[in-house]
Amino acid sequence: MSEAPLPTVLVVAVALIDVDGRVLIAQRPEGKALAGLWEFPGGKVEPGERPEQALIRELNEELGIDVNEACLAPFVFASHAYESFHLLMPLYLCRRWSGVVTKREHAALAWVKPNKLSDYPMPPADAPLVAWLRDLL
Ligand code: CDP
Repeated sequence: MSEAPLPTVLVVAVALIDVDGRVLIAQRPEGKALAGLWEFPGGKVEPGERPEQALIRELNEELGIDVNEACLAPFVFASHAYESFHLLMPLYLCRRWSGVVTKREHAALAWVKPNKLSDYPMPPADAPLVAWLRDLL
């Protein structure tokens, strides 16, 4: 008997890049799946949302910043089969935003040089994106 396919979940994530070329990563808080691991900020795309709208909403909720859609460029997709779902996650690049990046929902935030990102343990979906960023930045 064939097994039912895993549901696919679309999550959008961003590499915010500051003027010194550092990238923002955020530590997942206690009580959530993958607590303690460092992720690229973002979240689930709600039904009816376009991915860019979801990312703008999540960045406002999680980090208190506003991003103009024209400043967002999709870069590469992560794809990972977690135990109960298949995660598809485009990583956007963003170099311009308004407001001050503020920790609202994460345990910690860190601005990290691309060649140091691999020092931070990441969810299995995020980790392969580090090599792409290192090559790009
Ligand atoms: O935070 P919460 O777990 O409620 O949901 P989410 O951040 O919208 O992400 C849903 C799931 O996607 C998480 O439980 C992680 O398994 C995964 N995820 C990931 O692997 N990497 C990310 N950067 C964000 C989410």
